[in-house]
Amino acid sequence: MNEKTFYITTPIYYPSAQLHIGHALTTSMTDTLARYKKMMGYDVYFLTGSDEHGQKIERAAAEKAMKPIEYTDMIIASFKRLWKKMNISNDDFLRTTEKRHYDTVQAIFQKIYDQGDIYKSEYEGLYCISCEAFFTEHQAEGGLCPDCGKAVEIVKEESYFFKMSKYADRLLAHIDAHKEFIQPESRRNEMINFIKQGLDDLSISRTTFDWGIPITIDKGHVVYVWFDALTNYITALDYLHDGPLYEKFWVNNNEIVHVVGKDIIRFHTIIWPIILMAAYIKLPTTVFGHGWLLLEGGKMSKSKGNVIDPFTLIEKYGSDSLRYFLVRELPFNGTDFYYSEEALVTRINNDLANDYGNLISRTISMIDKYFDGIVPEKITVEPIDKVLESLAQHVVSDYETKMDNFEIGSALQTVFKLIVRANKYIEEVAPWQLAKAENFDRIGTILYNLTEVIRISTILLSPVLVETKENVKKQLGLGDEQWYRFDNAVFGRGPSGYKVAKGNPLFPRIDLKTLDITEAKADKPKKTEKVATEKKDNLISIDDFFKCQLKVGEVIAAEKVEKADRLLKLQVDVGAETVRTIVAGIAPHYTPESILNMKIVVVTNLKPAKLKGILSEGMLLAAKGKETLSLIKVDGDIEKGASVG
Ligand code: MSP
Repeated sequence: MNEKTFYITTPIYYPSAQLHIGHALTTSMTDTLARYKKMMGYDVYFLTGSDEHGQKIERAAAEKAMKPIEYTDMIIASFKRLWKKMNISNDDFLRTTEKRHYDTVQAIFQKIYDQGDIYKSEYEGLYCISCEAFFTEHQAEGGLCPDCGKAVEIVKEESYFFKMSKYADRLLAHIDAHKEFIQPESRRNEMINFIKQGLDDLSISRTTFDWGIPITIDKGHVVYVWFDALTNYITALDYLHDGPLYEKFWVNNNEIVHVVGKDIIRFHTIIWPIILMAAYIKLPTTVFGHGWLLLEGGKMSKSKGNVIDPFTLIEKYGSDSLRYFLVRELPFNGTDFYYSEEALVTRINNDLANDYGNLISRTISMIDKYFDGIVPEKITVEPIDKVLESLAQHVVSDYETKMDNFEIGSALQTVFKLIVRANKYIEEVAPWQLAKAENFDRIGTILYNLTEVIRISTILLSPVLVETKENVKKQLGLGDEQWYRFDNAVFGRGPSGYKVAKGNPLFPRIDLKTLDITEAKADKPKKTEKVATEKKDNLISIDDFFKCQLKVGEVIAAEKVEKADRLLKLQVDVGAETVRTIVAGIAPHYTPESILNMKIVVVTNLKPAKLKGILSEGMLLAAKGKETLSLIKVDGDIEKGASVG
């Protein structure tokens, strides 16, 4: 029996409208983690689905003069089409309108009622139909929902209440004892503050409409849609019959992860754990609340008419490119980020076409040219090969640490360090020069090394680039799946002597100038206006900013520079076993002792320059007052080499 089990879920999406790239982001992130864990030898169960009850759906169906179930049937068919196109590897798709779910929700409601945590009363307050959430007058200032900004409605009806208030202290103690429960950290702090303000009992049944799961103890009540929806995570495992999936992936599993957007973290880290506590069921391991994907004009919304359709993007750029963009750009600390088609194309061109695709096509062309397409053996090894090899091994372990920590974007960044290094290696070893000298033993070794970099980076990228992996396997001519197993991501382990099969470029470069940008621009300023304001305010684009490589470095040695009062010579460890010498004009403000072991921010891609005869390989960031200077320091135990930005 496999001891390593992993259960991961997406939110179940509302079929009130078609899905957009925000939803595609959550599902791509979840799928990437599911595929990664599978690659690491875990037995994975991956759930997604649809949240079909409630007033929001009832009204959306009524607008189309359809019955709710006819309406949701129609929309859900397109959910499933999208996930198929995006190569989403879910094991189940749960619809809350299924019988298995009705039975489970009713059983849990009954269980909590029987043990005394549900009582009947009357609810009077405000309700946001778009978020399906209750608010007090104080929270919904000016009659607007504090989450989505839409108008709330006044509700007064008989309702069953869930004694959530009773569990506040137990929940806080759980959050405190399990740092991994709410991630990333910023979300945990938000939730702790929220709970500390006190929890109200929650109205968990509605009587003014009937599109929901009826409660068994009182006709005319349907279960509140969030109570209904959250339960899906255990319905799907057959909690009701204590089925084998429930035993394996919930009861005996220590890795149960719910991936959600920040908008619904509150429901998942307050209501859901309290339902579970009240029903004597163990809690999930982690709720990860990622940030939002925004447009320049703010949020995507149907009413603004600016939603971005993932189908169109897949049609134009392919599913792997869209998946890659979404998870590569997503900040792991939970902050929001921006979408634009230009940013998507730039990312595809830079990483996938120029770096990864180019490495593959150059390598295969040279194998064709110099070795008739047969991957040569390693014969003459030089020190520069060892640099590539040790970087490859460092990248593999760094990638693993980051993926285990949900830092998908930085894990991918790490892989690209290896790819970029390999392209640079080609320039440095210049096989075309060696060919003039007929040094084919050396060229063979170089080309073998390059196939190893391609093989290893293809393994590491495979949880995201699903279709590309199959194409690379074909072009490289190394078809056997064993060479793409993570335990074989060891430089030098791959074979030689097989035949490559050059094909079309994996990621043809897209010309931004000729591109027909179809994205909705409802809220965007016109291009000309934008350029004008950028110039006037001296603004730079995000891509310009990212040209600057900023990293966390630790000062491991410091000394004064002779005959230079203002300068200190520092040795700064910037991670990946790299120590930089940096000469900085900070001596009037810092002694060598005071700066030792300090974690600071370093610009690592600055051209080296000589200062007082010493080669300085970077720059420190500091705030400059009129007469003072203060280095930008980094708090906490963030590792050396972590990127800043
Ligand atoms: N039905 C509830 C979830 C119930 S889970 C028990 C719901 N559905 S939803 O269709 O509104 O989808 C919400 C999720 O979609 C968000 O939590 C988030 O994961 C994702 N996103 C929707 N818009 C998004 C962005 N613009 N950006 C990032 N994610 C977004 O809430």
